[in-house]
Order: sequence, then structure tokens, then C-alpha cells
Amino acid sequence: MPGLAIIGSQWGDEGKGKITDYLDERADMIVRFQGGNNAGHTIIVDGKTFKLHGLPSGVVRPGKLAVIGNGVVVNLEELQEEIDQVLAAGGSIDGLRISDRAHLIMNYHKKLDGAEEKYRGKNVVGTTKKGIGPAYQDKIARIGFRAGDLLEEDVLRDKIQFILPYKKDVLDLMGAEPCQCTPESLFEKMKGWGDSIGKYICDTSVLINDALDEGGNVIFEGAQGAMLDIDHGTYPYVTSSATCGGGVCTGSGVAPNRIDRVLGVVKAYTTRVGEGPFVTELNEKEEKELQARGGEFGVTTGRGRRCGWLDLVVVEHAKRMCGFTSLVMTKIDVLNDMAEIPVCVAYEIDGTEVKHFPASIAKLNRAKPVYETLKGWKGWDSTEELVKGGYDNLPGEMREYIEFTERYLKTPVDIVSVGPDRDETIDRRNGDWWS
Ligand code: GDP
Ligand code: IMO
Ligand code: MG
Repeated sequence: MPGLAIIGSQWGDEGKGKITDYLDERADMIVRFQGGNNAGHTIIVDGKTFKLHGLPSGVVRPGKLAVIGNGVVVNLEELQEEIDQVLAAGGSIDGLRISDRAHLIMNYHKKLDGAEEKYRGKNVVGTTKKGIGPAYQDKIARIGFRAGDLLEEDVLRDKIQFILPYKKDVLDLMGAEPCQCTPESLFEKMKGWGDSIGKYICDTSVLINDALDEGGNVIFEGAQGAMLDIDHGTYPYVTSSATCGGGVCTGSGVAPNRIDRVLGVVKAYTTRVGEGPFVTELNEKEEKELQARGGEFGVTTGRGRRCGWLDLVVVEHAKRMCGFTSLVMTKIDVLNDMAEIPVCVAYEIDGTEVKHFPASIAKLNRAKPVYETLKGWKGWDSTEELVKGGYDNLPGEMREYIEFTERYLKTPVDIVSVGPDRDETIDRRNGDWWS
């Protein structure tokens, strides 16, 4: 059973980085398949913290292949900074591979990201301003640069000749900061990228499929979450890539039958960064409290994350879009010592109870959460002892919170994360993920 996908079930920041790192001990390859350095994945090992944006989480363990798939958009300058950090921390990027089909985020994409947000006025999305949307727009418009272009000087020169004037005009029209590059200076800059990063560029679809054919263990590491999916999320308050199950295949060049397990990462409550509907969002005072308890501040932008109770209508939608075979519940420790914990099981919209997440933003803005209130549990003194005790020795009310989720979603919660460190993890399959 070698193809395992890890996907966020909410609006991102569920703890995908931690779980990828936990599970990749026995993986040969970790593949990012969508998004870019809008992601911020935190991994903590023995108290040492890694914050990854564009690099797959696999770079943290030596000897793994860490693949940036064709569906990812890559900012090579910012990736280089991340690589330098990994190297400075004593790590290695020998295992890095970048798809020749992956699109590049250019400086003008970042400028356009900011300019588009200004145009949106009160409909602002609250993007990370990393240029993600504009880079995907160019991909779809067939005017994007791909990593493979860096290896072919004639192709690069030719593309620069028609794309650069086009983008300069667009920047001008949008009132964005102008681009000072000339075709020659941009060529030299991009040739430099090719020189430094070219050795990592290859056909990663062949690499991944060969690994799977040989019985290798491959993790597909999602970025963002199902509710930020360009089709299935809270459009237009979404990112610009396919974050759900289908994105694994299109974004890495593997067929659907190569994915054997799909793990849905569910934060024990809900957070969202940026604008958009959020039915279970708390009032300001309660939000600040949960934000502080959970350390809910963005890894990429430092923005405070909006906070609310667990919304099972959201996770049910994500399960349908991704095909979760297991769930991973993270940050449940943040809910310690609460007397009661509400869990949203339906929405009331215009007097009707709704169980399926609607497409309409207007309806979502009118939706009221229907809660079931579960009993809280007391916190523990030693997480090490708690983890040693295993699932059966967790506080009874905590198990009930987990099992309520399992019953609602008809999917087992196979991993419970009780702290940010790699070791603060209870694995109900005892490592049996690859058979
Ligand atoms: P990702 O984008 O899905 O990888 O998640 P982020 O790294 O953006 O945000 C998750 C945050 O929660 C990080 O600071 C993690 O170190 C932390 N974290 C992950 N799992 C747990 C957990 O079970 N308990 C606690 N308290 N923190 C966790
Ligand atoms: P990880 O992988 C949380 C949000 C932004 C914004 C919207 C669009 O760490 O879970 P974009 O820059 O992608 O065009 O912004 O998506 N967003 C995230 N929120 N976690 C992320 O990644 C996110 N990546 C983008 O805040 O609302
Ligand atoms: Mg994150």
C-alpha cells in the first residue's frame, strides 16, 4: 500500500507538516502536489523547529526524496532562501527534485497579487501576497514560465521576448509597481536560477511512478485545506489550486489508482486565515482566548488566525471531496480543561436544517451553527506518559469527542496528535501504514 496522501480538511494549518513528518519515517519520497510558498508547515523534533513553505516536509529527515510536483508554483528566489536555512541547520537537500512542468512565480506575480487585492476593495480575499493566484492565472492563460524552460536557453529567450512586455503592460494597467527588468536582465537572472537549481529539475512523474512500481512508499503532502480548494472551497475566498483528492493526481502526474490511503487532517477546532465565511467563528473575546491557547498565528504571514468550534459539516464536505480513509485529529490538547465543547453538526439556513456545505457565500453568511455540546476533560501532567499510555488511557471524555467525530464522519480517527512535537502523537495503527 505505498501511495498515501495527507490533506487538510478545513481552511489550512491543521498540522499537515507535523503529520507528514511523523509518517515519513518509513517513506522513500514526499511529494508536494499543489500550492506554493503560501503554505507554512511547522515541524518540531526534540524541541527544534522547522518552518517550511515551498519545500516538502521530507527535507527534515535525511535520505528522503523531496519532490516539488508539476502542480506546484515555485518562487525560486524564496526557495533558495529556504534551502539556505535547511543547510545552515545542518540538513541536506540532496533529495530535492523539482518537476520540469512546475510553473514559476515571478516578481511581477507578487506585485499583481497586491494590485488585484486593491481592486477587490471590500471583497478582498486576504491572500498571502506570495503571487500564487497570478502565477496560476498565467499557467491557465498559457503564458507561464515552467522550471524546465530554465534548461533550454532558446526557449527561455523566446518566451521572455513576448511575456515580459505583456506583463509590463498589465502591471501598468493595474497601477502596480513597475517591473524594471529588460529582456536581457531577466534572461540573465533566470539563467542564474537554472545554473543553481537546474540539477534538481527533472520529470518527477516518472520518478514518482517508478518509485511506486518498485514498491516504494510515497507520501503526497497537501498544502492549504479542502475548504480553500479553487472548485470545492468557499469561492472566491479560496486559494488558486486544487487542494482536494483530485489535485494529488493532476499535481503530481500519477493516476487515481496509485493513491491507496487518504488521511484527512482535522484540527480539533477550526481556524481560518484571511476573509470568507466561517459559520462556527467565535466572538472576539472567545476567539482571542482560543487563538492564544492554540498559538494560532500564521507561519507565512504572522496574521492572527480566526478561530471557531469544530465544524463537522465542513469536514464532511472535505471527506467527500478527498475520499478520506483515515482521519488524524490534531491539537486536541488545546481544548484541555474546558467544561463543555460545542461541535457543529448542521447549519440552520432560513429556517431549514442543512447538513451539506452550500456553495453560496450569501447562504453561508446567513447560516447559524447547530451545536451538540460534549463534555470537556481535564488536562494531564506529562504528555510523554499520556502517549505511553496509548489511546485507551486517554481521558474518557476526550475519547468520546474523538469517537463522536468518527461516528459522524463514518471514518476512523487513526492518529491523535496531543502536542506539536513529532513524538507527541498517538498512532492507533502502531505504524502500520504501508502494508
Ligand atoms: P500546517 O500548515 O497544516 O502544516 O500547520 P501549521 O504548521 O501552519 O500550524 C499548525 C501549528 O500547530 C504549528 O505551530 C504546529 O507546531 C502546531 N501543532 C501541530 N500539531 C499539534 C498538536 O497536536 N498540539 C499542539 N498544541 N500544537 C500542534
Ligand atoms: P498551509 O499549507 C492557511 C489562505 C490565505 C487566503 C487564501 C488565498 O500552511 O495550511 P493565496 O495566497 O493562497 O492566494 O491566499 O488562502 N491560505 C492559507 N491559509 N494555511 C495555508 O497554507 C494557506 N495558504 C493560503 O490566507 O485566505
Ligand atoms: Mg500552515
